[in-house]
Amino acid sequence: MPVQPSPHIRSTSPPTAAPSAVVATLRAAGCVFAEDEAELLAATARTPAELTAMVDRRAAGLPLEHVLGWAEFCGLRVAVDPGVFVPRRRTEFLVHRAAALARPGSVVVDLCCGSGALGAALDEALGGVELHAADIDPAAVACARRNLAALGGRVYRGDLYEPLPAALRGRVDVLLANVPYVPTGDITLLPPEARLHEARVALDGGADGLAVLRRVAAGAPLWLAPGGRLLFETSGRQVPSAVGIVTGAGLVPEVAVCEELDATVVVATRPPGRPSVRADRVDRADRVGRVPPYGAGGAASGGRPGG
Ligand SMILES: C[S@@+](CC[C@H](N)C(=O)[O-])C[C@H]1O[C@@H](n2cnc3c(N)ncnc32)[C@H](O)[C@@H]1O
Repeated sequence: MPVQPSPHIRSTSPPTAAPSAVVATLRAAGCVFAEDEAELLAATARTPAELTAMVDRRAAGLPLEHVLGWAEFCGLRVAVDPGVFVPRRRTEFLVHRAAALARPGSVVVDLCCGSGALGAALDEALGGVELHAADIDPAAVACARRNLAALGGRVYRGDLYEPLPAALRGRVDVLLANVPYVPTGDITLLPPEARLHEARVALDGGADGLAVLRRVAAGAPLWLAPGGRLLFETSGRQVPSAVGIVTGAGLVPEVAVCEELDATVVVATRPPGRPSVRADRVDRADRVGRVPPYGAGGAASGGRPGG
């Protein structure tokens, strides 16, 4: 299911009534919002048999979005395939910050794109951008390709910047990077929906949660246009280290906090007029601390809902 405006938000039609048995099953399985979930499942299932199968999967603990096959993000309905990171409500703040800094036609890279939700939402907010996205996980890449095809977005598979076309170097206005930022030791504290049903590489940020960010920051000056911005989400306690990392990479950081969404975003700007760092330096920095695909790579969330 490609990106489309979420009928859940924008439609004025009443929700499909869910059978009370569905509500009861979900409630018995511990779903806190059983009524709401039942309505969504009933509205999405095409047949009674499909509804039963969906309810069973949800009751067995799969994330609602994986059962539905989509998530709502910034008013869009974004396809989310099994195992692919479910875009979090909190991350809408990162998109809002980016939208305030960019303009129609900006060159945007959504690094560590997962489903491609951030790039899609920014494209929608700005009325069209030159959109590139990349991820290391083949399932995420396939999902993002479906979501971004209609927008003309290009999706690459590989390790951080490695698959991006060289022609983007020094041209990127907005570099979105919702990298994994959960410290490895905190993965066990995540809710089972995230821990068991999202790829480890989407969550695990290494010992301090900042391993992927270090590599993204080291490479950013080569890819950003003068005045271009890297935006990433982090947890409150990671802010001092994250600010130090981007400052060390030659970027100028600003921290933005949204209490309502419990979100912290760092906007790191490449100073205008400064020359890009040389490619051989970045390539060397990029190799330091490289993590194997699906290894102890990523890091995410200081208490993001469901991960
Ligand atoms: C926290 S998820 C964010 C996904 C998406 N941006 C979102 O917010 O919904 C992190 C993503 O980073 C990807 N990832 C982790 N390490 C990577 C690497 N070295 N290179 C590219 N992508 C990576 C994971 O596969 C995952 O899709």
